[in-house]
Amino acid sequence: MADLSYQTGFGNQFETEAELGTLPRGQNSPQRVQGGLYTEQVTGTAFTAPRNSMQRTWMYRVRPSVRHLAALNSIDRGLIRSAPDIEAAPVNTQLRWDPFPTTSSKTNWVTGLATVATNGDVALQAGGAIHHFSATESMGNIAFVNTDGEMMLVPYAGHLLIRTELGHLEVGVGQMAVIPRGIKFAIDLTSGPARGYVCENYGSIFALPEHGLMGMDANALPRDFEYPVASFDRQDQATQLIAKVSGQLFANKLDHSPFDVVAWHGNLAPYRYELRRFCALGPVVFDHPDPSIWTLLSSSSDTPGTANIDFILFREHWKVAENTFRPPWFHSNVMSELMGLIEGVYDAKAQGFEPGGASIHNSFIPHGPDSDAFSSATEAELAPVKGPDSLAVMWESRYRWAPTKWAISLTELQTDYAERWAQLDKRRP
Ligand SMILES: [Fe+2]
Repeated sequence: MADLSYQTGFGNQFETEAELGTLPRGQNSPQRVQGGLYTEQVTGTAFTAPRNSMQRTWMYRVRPSVRHLAALNSIDRGLIRSAPDIEAAPVNTQLRWDPFPTTSSKTNWVTGLATVATNGDVALQAGGAIHHFSATESMGNIAFVNTDGEMMLVPYAGHLLIRTELGHLEVGVGQMAVIPRGIKFAIDLTSGPARGYVCENYGSIFALPEHGLMGMDANALPRDFEYPVASFDRQDQATQLIAKVSGQLFANKLDHSPFDVVAWHGNLAPYRYELRRFCALGPVVFDHPDPSIWTLLSSSSDTPGTANIDFILFREHWKVAENTFRPPWFHSNVMSELMGLIEGVYDAKAQGFEPGGASIHNSFIPHGPDSDAFSSATEAELAPVKGPDSLAVMWESRYRWAPTKWAISLTELQTDYAERWAQLDKRRP
C-alpha cells in the first residue's frame, strides 16, 4: 500500500500543489506561472450549465495536453464496444452470467477490458457501457484517457493503484473510484491480479442523488468521498497513451509522462469511496420502500427523475419489517437493470449469482426472487436479522442494456437461468 493523502468532500472546490507556491493566487491564468508551467483548463460541464452543476479544473503542468493527443494512430479495440453496438442482439429474456472469464493469461487493465453491455449512444452523450476488467500486470508506462465517458471502477478482486493527472488513488475490494472523462490515468496492481466491473457513463456526470424528505445525513455522505492531492512524474518516462474516442481506440507514443500536473484547483477530479460507509435506509414497520433509497450516485437524463444511469448499492443491513416478504418482490420495471456482485450472497438469489458474474433485467422483462429465495422468505420466522455480509451493485438506466457479442457467446451465460423460477408453482386450484 502506498502512503497516499486525500482531500475530502464530494464535488468540493479543491486546491492542491505538489510544489508549494505553484497555484496562482486570486486568478487562474497569470501571464507567467511559477516555474514557467503551462496553464490548462479541463471542463466537465458546458460553460453555461446551471451553476450548481458546473465542474471544471485548472491545471498547471510541465507540458500541455496538446502534446499528448496529437497524431493519434488507430489501434485494435479488442473487446471494447460502445453504443450503438451493431453486433448486439436484442434481448427478450432475463440474462445472467457466471463469473466472467479472463480474456488472456497476460493482461493489463486496458487490454483486459471486455464490454458486457452498452446502451444509448456515445455520440449523443446518452447511456453508457458496463465492462469487465481482468488484469494480471500493471499498466506501467501505458496511460489511458477516455473522451467518451467517465469511468467508475468497482473491483471485486485485487487492489489498484490509480495514477492520474491529478494525483494517485488506491482502490481495493469494497471501494469504488470514478475517473472523469478526459482525465488521463494508469492502473497498477499492488497485490496480484485484479478483476472488477467498470461503468462507462456517456451522460451527465455522476452526482449525489436528490434526497427529498430523507434530509441531509443518510446514504452516501459527501465527506466520505476522497480526492487525490497533486502529484507528478519528475522523470521523462516514455509512455504509450491510449485514447478512446467515439468508441474507437487510438494510441500515441510520448517521450514523456502525461502525468505532469504540478498543481491544480477545481471540482472536476477523480475520487474514491468506501462502499460500506453507505448508511443504507430501510423499512422499520412493514413492506418495502422503492430500491431508489439505495441510490449512491446518479447520472441524470433530460427527463426529471428518470436517470441516464443510477448507481445503486445493496449492502447487508438489519431486516426488521413485520409481516413482510423481505427480499425484493417480483417486478417489471420501466428502467433497465444490470447487476454485479462484489462479495457475499445477494438475498433475492439463493444460488447462481457469484462475485464477478452479472445479470441483466431489461425494461419490462419480469424478474424477482428465485424459487428457493421465495420459499425461505415466505416461511421464515420474522425476527430481526442482519443480512448476510454482501455487496451487490446495480447500474439502472432508462435505456435497455444490450449485451455484446462477446458476453452473449460466453459459456458463462446461464442458459438455465429462467429455470430458477420454474418451481414457482400454481397457487390456486
Ligand atoms: Fe429488478
